Order: sequence, then structure tokens, then C-alpha cells
Amino acid sequence: MLAQRALALRAPVLRAWTLTRFTLMRHLINVSDLTTDEILRIFAISEDLKAKFRAGVREPLLPGRVMALVFEKQSLRTRVSFQAAMTHLGGASMMLGDDAGFGKRESLADFARVLSEMVDVIVLRTKKHQTVNEVAAHAACSVINGLTDQSHPCQALADLFTLREQFGALQGCKLAWVGDANNVARSLAMSCALLGVEFAVACPAGYEFEEAFVARLQSKAPGSKFRSTRDPLEAVRGASAVYTDVWASMGQEAELERRRRDFADYQVNGRLMAAASPTARFMHCLPARRGEEVTDEVMDGPYSIVVEQAANRMHVQKGILAWLLGAQA
Ligand code: CP
Ligand code: NVA
Repeated sequence: MLAQRALALRAPVLRAWTLTRFTLMRHLINVSDLTTDEILRIFAISEDLKAKFRAGVREPLLPGRVMALVFEKQSLRTRVSFQAAMTHLGGASMMLGDDAGFGKRESLADFARVLSEMVDVIVLRTKKHQTVNEVAAHAACSVINGLTDQSHPCQALADLFTLREQFGALQGCKLAWVGDANNVARSLAMSCALLGVEFAVACPAGYEFEEAFVARLQSKAPGSKFRSTRDPLEAVRGASAVYTDVWASMGQEAELERRRRDFADYQVNGRLMAAASPTARFMHCLPARRGEEVTDEVMDGPYSIVVEQAANRMHVQKGILAWLLGAQA
């Protein structure tokens, strides 16, 4: 009876997707693991579930599924959005703390082999990107990257979903990144390339994307519009959204003083926002260090969509979970 009601609530887009879904186990380690069509399918599911959530419906698409979260670094948004998403989808989640001994008590391979016998999906936030790759290589269930030093795919997917919501379509949008070309920036640049959004990055010498990353971007999405400059004013010209992140990411605390000096001319303030398009939004993955990479005026300004971005993390995590796990036995 309950299952019938759940099915009846399902939108046509979701039913079509359920029937045609790729049935092999998949991981989400980097945005480049996905095709453009797959990202759009995740967005379609997220959009459908967000509309239902707003109408008071929490559709139990993943009853009995279990998600484990293992985080080597702090988190508010990623952790809570994944746990809330899984609860709304009818599944359960568990946050494994230090007492699980991840990376300390046994090999990563043994940890992955054992944990994945008991849960359906593992969300990992690790210091080193290689750690996520290693767990994924040995896990018998899907592994999702919840941030590494290299990438933050779930953040970028939610951000492009938010940008599409704001402008109605992604075609013709331009995203300007001002600051460190870091983990979030890499995932955003790749998402923009796959979704046809122009991407411009402004950062000081020594903080740019690696050549190998730019080459991968261009091979994944040939013809995508990508520009790297030292000049923030040039990057934000005509931008639909200006995006920044902390100057020192988690794990780079010892470099904070040097980075403060190196990024001093890369603050997103009212003057920089005024140089972007008149309808430009301000975006930040959060947490922000107000007064450093962004001023209060911009964070709290009428063009700031940072809270919408954070809220969409939960809706897009649902899309990711339902897409990854939806048709697996
Ligand atoms: N943006 C983001 O990933 O936030 P948390 O570090 O709080 O998860
Ligand atoms: N670049 C930041 C993002 C936090 C969500 C970090 O890695 O600390």
C-alpha cells in the first residue's frame, strides 16, 4: 500500500529514469566521472524531489538503504545535507567517528571491503584524494567524494543546479572564479565545461590550475569556454555569477599568512561586484572568512545566493543518491 502510494507520487520523469537507469555500480569521485546527460538526469531528479519536498512530500525512493559517512575533515553542509537527504529518501545513515579507526586500525582496502558489505553507499571526506580512490577501488558499493584536496564534485553539481534555477537555463551563463584555483574551483570548472557554461578564473601567480587539469578539461569538453587571468576585473566582466572560496583550505592553515598577502588583491567586495554584470549573483561554497576573501557587504548583499546554494546541497544530494542507488538490487 505504502509502496503503491510512493509510486503514484513519482513524477513521470522519475519513472522514465528508473526504467532506463544504468544498472552497474557507479562511484562519484570527480565530476568528470559523469557525462553531460548524467548530470542533467541528476538535476531532473533533484528538481522533482525539491518540488515535492516543498509541497510537503518526502518520497521514500531508497527504503532500507544505508549510507556511511567517514570524514577526516570538518563539515556542516556536506554531512547534514547527505544525512537529511537519505532520511527523506527512506534510508538510514551513520556518521563513523574516529573510533572506527579509518586509515589507522587496518588497511584502507580491508576497511573498504568490510564496510561495503554492510552499507549501500559510502560518503568520504579525506585529506588526500588518493584515499578516496583507494577506498573506491576496494569497495563493493558506491563511493561518493564528499571533498578531497583535489575536488568537491557534490558542491559543484549543487552550484550549477542553483545557477540554472537562478537564470532559468545555463546556456549563455558565465561563472567567474576569483581566488585560489582549489578543489571547489576544479570541480566547478569541469561542471561548467560539461554543461556549456563559460568559466573564467582570476588568481595570483602560483595558484592557477595545473596544466594537466586544463588539458583534461579541454579533452573532456572540447570547445568549452575557459579563461585564466591574473586580473579579477577582467574575469568578472559580463559574469552571471562571481564565486570565491577561502584563501587557505582545510589542511593549508600553516600557509594562511602567506596566502593572505598573496590574495590581498583578490577580495570580492562591492567594487568588484559592480564590475560584473548588473544581474550578477555572488556565490560561495561556505564556510566563508568574512573580511578576507569576501566582505560582509557582498555576503549579505541582495545579489548573494550563498544560502540558496547551501540549501540546494540537500536537494542535489538526493538526486545523486537516487541516481547512484535507485535501481541497484
Ligand atoms: N561547502 C561545504 O562543503 O561545506 P562543509 O565543509 O560544511 O561540508
Ligand atoms: N576549499 C575549501 C572548501 C570547503 C567546503 C576547503 O577545502 O577547505
